[in-house]
Amino acid sequence: MVRANLLSVIMLMHVIIGLPYNVKGLSMGYYLMSCPAAEQIVTNTVNNALQADPTLAAGLIRMLFHDCFIEGCDASILLDSTKDNTAEKDSPANLSLRGYEIIDDAKKKIEARCPGVVSCADIIAMAARDAVFSANGPYYQIPKGRFDGKRSKIEDTRNLPSPFLNASQLIQTFGQRGFTPQDVVALSGAHTLGVARCSSFKARLTTPDSSMDSSFVTTLTKTCSAGDNAEQPFDATRNNFDNAYFNALQRKSGVLFSDQTLSNTPATRNIVNGYAFNQAKFFFDFQMAMQKMSNLDVKLGSQGEVRKNCRILN
Ligand code: HEM
Ligand SMILES: *[C@@H]1O[C@H](CO)[C@@H](O)[C@H](O)[C@H]1NC(C)=O
Ligand SMILES: *[C@@H]1O[C@H](CO)[C@@H](O)[C@H](O)[C@H]1NC(C)=O
Repeated sequence: MVRANLLSVIMLMHVIIGLPYNVKGLSMGYYLMSCPAAEQIVTNTVNNALQADPTLAAGLIRMLFHDCFIEGCDASILLDSTKDNTAEKDSPANLSLRGYEIIDDAKKKIEARCPGVVSCADIIAMAARDAVFSANGPYYQIPKGRFDGKRSKIEDTRNLPSPFLNASQLIQTFGQRGFTPQDVVALSGAHTLGVARCSSFKARLTTPDSSMDSSFVTTLTKTCSAGDNAEQPFDATRNNFDNAYFNALQRKSGVLFSDQTLSNTPATRNIVNGYAFNQAKFFFDFQMAMQKMSNLDVKLGSQGEVRKNCRILN
């Protein structure tokens, strides 16, 4: 009884504190009446899964990016292919996305409490937020009310940025979706977590240029000696959300071309240096940019549905 009251107070505080975050038809109190436990179920599910395997935090954060950047934040990334449709998921550009089972698990637990109410798109957004925090990164608010989309096509994934884009191309690609150069650098800071496979950077090793530290070229070459799927951590602390990624860029030890280009280009170099110097500044800008990402082209009401199973259309 006492716990139940405490939970409602906490939920209410969430709503009140969250009021400034009500945007684009989304709101902090969206599930307050219909499924008050939703947020807590996602957080517990993510925390438990990441306790068992901390490397999955990177998977969940990247999942949000791939979901939102294609067709908006509508859980299109979760749909499985059918005999008539090859989904985004099966693109070579799905680039080894991980963490689908965590979303399925949270969805199943939520459906048991309040069936047909909480969208998969909201679960992805909350799970990414919880993954950042669980890896020692900042915490930010996620307003809710996204609907799940009905389209997921392999060909749409060509709109994902390639790791061979230079800084001006990255600025242009993200700029078309409303992101600033500062957002691009802050969001790239998500590469403080996780790994890239050799196939994503081996082209840089054939004729290494002066933007690459020579001993780091040796490191990457050694990684690739184990094959195309061999994994290279982006920085020395692959499970810790910190600013070590930006320090690595300053040492010319960025893994992807699209990482290193950020500190070679005047338009973004000062931002990289700022984050390498001041982690709090990185955290603050990252939160703002993630909130923007989480609200990208969201679908409301009749533009979508609330899927019963995140992998299949109702
Ligand atoms: C700026 C443009 C970006 C490019 C070109 C890019 C590209 C890549 C590539 C090629 C990989 C390695 C995939 C593999 O080899 O398996 C990767 C991994 C990753 N990306 Fe990005 N990315 C970008 C932006 C972002 C953003 C905005 C986020 C999230 C906010 C993000 C989060 C991640 C994470 C966490 C990983 C590691 C995944 C894991 O270890 O499972 N990336 N990215
Ligand atoms: C893409 O995802 C599918 C299904 O999850 C998986 O079978 C496939 O190996 C992935 N492709 C790559 C290149 O990671
Ligand atoms: C980035 O790439 C584009 C396309 O290849 C090229 O036109 C442009 O000059 C490059 N910019 C820089 C700063 O290297």
